[in-house]
Amino acid sequence: MDDKPLLSKEAAKKLLAEAARARAAAYAPYSGFCVGAALLFEGGLTVPGCNVENASYSLSVCAERNAMTTALTKGLRRPLAVAVAGPEGAFCPPCGACRQFLAEFNPDMAVVLKEADEPVVYTLRELLPLSFSLDENCGGAD
Ligand code: THU
Repeated sequence: MDDKPLLSKEAAKKLLAEAARARAAAYAPYSGFCVGAALLFEGGLTVPGCNVENASYSLSVCAERNAMTTALTKGLRRPLAVAVAGPEGAFCPPCGACRQFLAEFNPDMAVVLKEADEPVVYTLRELLPLSFSLDENCGGAD
């Protein structure tokens, strides 16, 4: 028997559309690469995020991390899924830093990306095998 999908195709499409909407707020004057993200929580609540760049380039923050920090300010800590939307036609998987950042809050969340105009659903765990966790380092602290 097939495993239950993490997210229905309809829900994945909806979340991607939210991410695409969030993209409109991106501040990306240096790269010109606008990104939107949307997190999905229990009960259907969603939280948007966009990338925000800075003249001191390394201070720039990705859309996914902005969405997650915004969610935390609302007391939302366990996203079920994240969708990421880049420029039309661009494949936009979350960067390594965002994968680790999101894994803190739910390593099993679904990650929805647009591929050939269709939503494709991954799990964060498959996109970030062997994520760093202090739990797995018990006893390692000096
Ligand atoms: N960016 C994101 O917002 N999310 C990612 O996962 C990868 C990259 C942003 C950062 C920067 O503002 C722009 O895309 C180009 O790297």
